[in-house]
Amino acid sequence: MNRKLRVAVSGIGWCGGEHIKAFQAHPDCEVVLLHGRDETRVRQNLEKFGVKNCAAKITTRTEDLFRGDVDVLSIAGINSTHTPLACEAARHGIHLMIEKPVARDVTELQTLLTAVGKSGVKTVVSFELYWNPLFQVARWLIASGRLGRVMFVRTNYHSRVGPWYAGWDWCRTRAEGRSLLLNAGCHAVDAVRQFTNDEPQAVSAFHTTGLAQGYEYPTTIQLNIQFAGGQLGQVSASADVATPYHFGLEIYGTKLSLVNQYLRWPDGEPVTVAELQHACPLPGVRFVAEAYSETKSQIRVDCLLPTSVSVDHHPFRDEAAALVDAIQRGGETPLSVARAAITHRICFAVDQSADRGGQPVQP
Ligand SMILES: NC(=O)c1ccc[n+]([C@@H]2O[C@H](COP(=O)([O-])OP(=O)(O)OC[C@H]3O[C@@H](n4cnc5c(N)ncnc54)[C@H](OP(=O)(O)O)[C@@H]3O)[C@@H](O)[C@H]2O)c1
Repeated sequence: MNRKLRVAVSGIGWCGGEHIKAFQAHPDCEVVLLHGRDETRVRQNLEKFGVKNCAAKITTRTEDLFRGDVDVLSIAGINSTHTPLACEAARHGIHLMIEKPVARDVTELQTLLTAVGKSGVKTVVSFELYWNPLFQVARWLIASGRLGRVMFVRTNYHSRVGPWYAGWDWCRTRAEGRSLLLNAGCHAVDAVRQFTNDEPQAVSAFHTTGLAQGYEYPTTIQLNIQFAGGQLGQVSASADVATPYHFGLEIYGTKLSLVNQYLRWPDGEPVTVAELQHACPLPGVRFVAEAYSETKSQIRVDCLLPTSVSVDHHPFRDEAAALVDAIQRGGETPLSVARAAITHRICFAVDQSADRGGQPVQP
């Protein structure tokens, strides 16, 4: 294709603003259409969320998204809009960037998978921390064999989402947010999958409620995942606990473990800073030797960490670029709807397990 891809964005809020910026930053894309319920509010939100130089038309009519001059639809509105918009776009041959959750239950998910499968459109789902440098380092360490066999992955999504959040009115409801895991912790579930890279066999979970006010669902959940190859995953998600936004990432291998940004080992010297620095293909990542205790060392991975809840800290540009690449060169993005469906199935099964008092459920 020798013209730019024409991008429409639906849902011009906190996240929609970042989707617009991500496509604006891509040399092969132009943002041509913005979709919201009220034109004045769309303009106010562009200003509020720091979108500059956007000459896209604004529409309040959903059907305008499918009138033939849109190549890519970015879906960033509230959760109940994701499946219907994505299905209609897929039927019109429009490629998709979709916010999580792509579906709120198994029925919506199946409808979406069928529509996307029939259409052959390219898709990317916003588990965008996939492109955070620490995540990339972790995947490189695993793929290169440096961790040995990954036995256990533990992730945490701890964020006191409350009235400060632009989407507070809808995200805390059962109808829209559905559960803490689907609304927020699904990022941590997807991360476990990235580093175990295996089929989930069974999940079990408990949930509870702490101090968080105003939610229609429990606000702390702890879950286990058993994978086909024997690896184990554990996730906690909470809006209750006292911490700044925390995305914890611990990957325990048989040779080496990555605990948040620290490489640790029991004895010997399985890796050195010099060797890692020489071999690592990721620009801007540094490895720093540090003391772990009086007698032990560790290596700190020095790179941008997943330490902010703010969407302007998240790698949406890499996500949009992955979609454009798949459209231009063929193949799937690493975060296609088909792949994301498994993360969603785990979340649905986990919520079921927690509702049943921790009984194991097959995703
Ligand atoms: N991937 C990530 O890291 C990440 C981070 C944050 C959020 N998200 C996801 O992004 C999506 C949007 O979240 P957000 O933080 O951007 O929320 P937001 O600021 O509330 O934006 C959502 C937009 O949807 C529209 N909307 C609100 N209520 C609606 C309703 N009842 N019916 C129809 N449209 C409505 C609003 O635009 P109009 O009023 O103009 O229609 C609003 O600006 C959610 O699915 C969320 O899960 C993802």
